[in-house]
Amino acid sequence: MEKEIHKENRFIPHLADYKKTCHGFRWEAVGKELALDSGKLNIAIKAIDQHTGSWRKNKVALYWEGARGRGSNQPEADMRSGRNFTFAELSTESNRIGNMLLNLGVRRGDRVFVFLPRIPELYTSIIAIAKIGAVAGPMFSAFGPEAIRDRLLDSGARVLITHASLRERIHQVWDELPELKHVVVVGDRDRLWKGEVSFEREVEKSSRELEVEDMDLEDPLYILYTSGTTGKPKGVVHVCHDMVSHYITTKLVLDLREEDVYWCTADPGWVTGTVYGIWGPWLNGCSQVTFEGRFDAEHWYSIIEHYGVTVWYTAPTALRMLMKAGPEVVKKYNLKGLRYILSVGEPLNPEVIRWGLEVFGLCIHDTWWQTETGAIMIANYPSMPVRPGSMGKPFPGTEAAIIDNKGNKLPPGTRGILALKPGWPSMMRALWGDEKRYKEYFTIPGWYTTGDTAYMDNEGYFWFIGRADDVIMTAGHRVGPFEVESALVEHRAVAESGVIGKPDPERGEIIKAFIVLRHGFKPSKELEEDIKEFIKHRLSAHAYPREIQFMDGIPKTRSGKIMRRLLKARELGLPEGDLSTLED
Ligand code: PRX
Repeated sequence: MEKEIHKENRFIPHLADYKKTCHGFRWEAVGKELALDSGKLNIAIKAIDQHTGSWRKNKVALYWEGARGRGSNQPEADMRSGRNFTFAELSTESNRIGNMLLNLGVRRGDRVFVFLPRIPELYTSIIAIAKIGAVAGPMFSAFGPEAIRDRLLDSGARVLITHASLRERIHQVWDELPELKHVVVVGDRDRLWKGEVSFEREVEKSSRELEVEDMDLEDPLYILYTSGTTGKPKGVVHVCHDMVSHYITTKLVLDLREEDVYWCTADPGWVTGTVYGIWGPWLNGCSQVTFEGRFDAEHWYSIIEHYGVTVWYTAPTALRMLMKAGPEVVKKYNLKGLRYILSVGEPLNPEVIRWGLEVFGLCIHDTWWQTETGAIMIANYPSMPVRPGSMGKPFPGTEAAIIDNKGNKLPPGTRGILALKPGWPSMMRALWGDEKRYKEYFTIPGWYTTGDTAYMDNEGYFWFIGRADDVIMTAGHRVGPFEVESALVEHRAVAESGVIGKPDPERGEIIKAFIVLRHGFKPSKELEEDIKEFIKHRLSAHAYPREIQFMDGIPKTRSGKIMRRLLKARELGLPEGDLSTLED
């Protein structure tokens, strides 16, 4: 193990003593701190509206920077450069959007999906959906028609809010979506396509006063689709009770406080962006930054400098790319305002932690959780020494353990299944319409199994080993091999395919596809590119195979299942293991 890092904080952490906090921790007490028992119960009241009754009314809640960046004076009306929103403004804007949705016939419990770039309307729409008691379905703006169709169809979404620049992908699949009644389009008042509703026009007509729904803790709040090894992506259902976890993990792990300027680099189409890029920080009354554009090392540093970002939550891939951009770039910016950096999504390499110490003078803190857990479950806390490479210790009030497949706890140092004791507020409540797959998480009595393997050391720190299944983690995004295989065989040249994650220094893993061509097609560079583009447009830019290898046959079991394990072992030159089920 690398040397522990004991770094003095320039602040007194909210969680000053891990052991003591664990000992006295009660979820009910957190509910009281959030005043869940007084007034109407709605996350949007707690996160937004309630602040308008205090001095925070005029506090900046959202520093929004458009894709063009600051200071640009390009004339296009549609490409705004940036704007700040106070809590009062978010409150009013979301009231109007809430009224627009009510006017369109949306009712409590209906699913409203949001397919937008990271523009202010994304944030105000999600707040509005919560206000009227509907269920939000955020979707990443790089999704292609197929990914969109699967999610809208499965959830029975009634309304979709999208942007003019993305609308074409919706129109390609709208006639396969009988339950989708309205497509509301941001960014085009006048040239609407068939069946569309203009966001701007409808919002203008809508009242600023809204009767916010009084919810039950167990009512659904949002659905996020995530990948497993088999089948289509699953719709993970989260409920209003999640706000208790959002609030307290943000406070104790991200250590956010009144004076912070916080930046979560994740898109709300992923769970990190919804929980820690919307709800958690605002439940704590914090100012946050969001940037519409893509990764760019210089630009990212300039955002930290310009807005005076103090707390920053990002991902290992981004950190590795910043590291690669070199020390000259980082030296150009004054990043002294940063006081705390956190990471999530993949293993955080000790090398990246060392680099962080050098360039920021700060220790990057790793956190572990999943779409299904709804909030951070294992973390490194500011008051605790960091063991580089470890995910840290369980969040107070949650029990994590390494178990065998009978549910027995394994001793420190032993590899096993990473499992959690059910009972924390933000645990998923269902997979939309798929009880069978939901139950698969609970096959070991008394435990929720995570699909990860790990071990715990003598001091109770958890160490990630890998996924127990075939799920691929690429640049922090979870991709199911089956989804990519299914999309691949829709290409005119592809007869069969097997997809694996291949280790990659920058992205954690990249997607590699093994492909058997249909009769009459020959392997070529052009065909390879054509297949890559096909998946990029069809499924998503993050889910296309960066490597393709053409083969004469894919190894399968006698029952016809693709042996991804074998493909991977051969790719990595590892032992092939038990081949008794291999088809002749
Ligand atoms: O395999 C683990 C990996 O990401 C999976 C969850 O993916 P998703 O639901 O997309 O959520 C990602 C962000 C909340 C986990 O099962 N993972 C997440 N955090 C870490 C991690 N692997 C290693 N170290 C982490 N800190």
